[in-house]
Amino acid sequence: MIAATDIRVTKTERSKLQDIDMRNLPFGKYFTDHMLEAEYDNGQWVKVEIKPYQHLMIDPSLTSLHYGQSIFEGIKAYKDEHGQALIFRPYDNFKRFNISAARMCMPDVPEEIFIEGMRQLITIDKDWIPAKKDHSLYIRPFMFATDAMLGVRPSQTYKFLILLSPTGPYYPKPMKIIVEEKYTRAAPGGVGFAKNAGNYAGSLIAAAEAQKQGYDQVLWTDAFEHKWLQEVGTMNVFFVIDHVAITPSLDEGTILDGITRKSVITILEEMNVPVEERHINVDEVTRAYTEGRLQEVFGTGTAATIAMVEKVKYKDVIMEFGEKDWTLSAEVKKRLDAIRDGKAPDTHGWMVPV
Ligand SMILES: Cc1ncc(COP(=O)(O)O)c(C=O)c1O
Repeated sequence: MIAATDIRVTKTERSKLQDIDMRNLPFGKYFTDHMLEAEYDNGQWVKVEIKPYQHLMIDPSLTSLHYGQSIFEGIKAYKDEHGQALIFRPYDNFKRFNISAARMCMPDVPEEIFIEGMRQLITIDKDWIPAKKDHSLYIRPFMFATDAMLGVRPSQTYKFLILLSPTGPYYPKPMKIIVEEKYTRAAPGGVGFAKNAGNYAGSLIAAAEAQKQGYDQVLWTDAFEHKWLQEVGTMNVFFVIDHVAITPSLDEGTILDGITRKSVITILEEMNVPVEERHINVDEVTRAYTEGRLQEVFGTGTAATIAMVEKVKYKDVIMEFGEKDWTLSAEVKKRLDAIRDGKAPDTHGWMVPV
């Protein structure tokens, strides 16, 4: 068992903070002065270190490069008006990380490294948390297989790292999305519920083709009929029909159990908005739109927070929304932002002080 005090800390001699324009922070471009690195060997985690952000030396036969045993998480930290650094629901990401690890035949990462390591790392780099609206410190824990051997079997050695990246909004504008009918992201029995690197590689082509048609992302559908809606890019999705918020259910294991999704469900329930987690078919959505009963569509995710959707295309049906339609999504975003920025009481214990 690793105690927080067992984390070796080496600090940088020169901070890069003054070299960065903190008013212009594209998502995931800049990294803070330090990172956490731990190694798994012989059935245990060893060499847990916080050290200056630096390159890794890797063997070209590294199994994760060839067979993709690689998982990650995305978390955000904020600063409240008293300058206190707070992390949004890190224990939920910690649990989900180990669910992804189990699916990919990778070892559990203990709380002492994942949570305590993250806290110590953020404490050291806390000056990097942007204070601006819609800005935060994005936290990227990840793990990959490090056996240097070309054989398809679970690796026996791994690295776990945490990087920190000060960041602005991921989708700065309302989104345009296309219902995907050709490619499949996930099928029952597969890995859709896990946050493994390959899920993202497999989805790039669909997003690239959508972008050629002037859309930002695809709305994934089931593998068999391409009708049952799943999620969008790096977000879960909500459809507001007849003032009921409907979001695809998690039961088939094909979509990510989003932490923003479950926070939004809680907020909607507090607002007395009925929520349904269930299978939802694209025909139900297009019919509701044609009949004037589809009020709005929005995405939820750590990187994106709440993303308003301005256009959804399915075959030749184009569903369009504007500023006046984004009422529920705007209210949910306002409430969630207020909790994250420390301006509203955190009645659910979502904000974990560093
Ligand atoms: C595929 C996918 N779906 C949904 C989400 C939203 O999950 P969360 O709200 O936990 O960030 C993400 C982002 O993490 C994602 O990558």
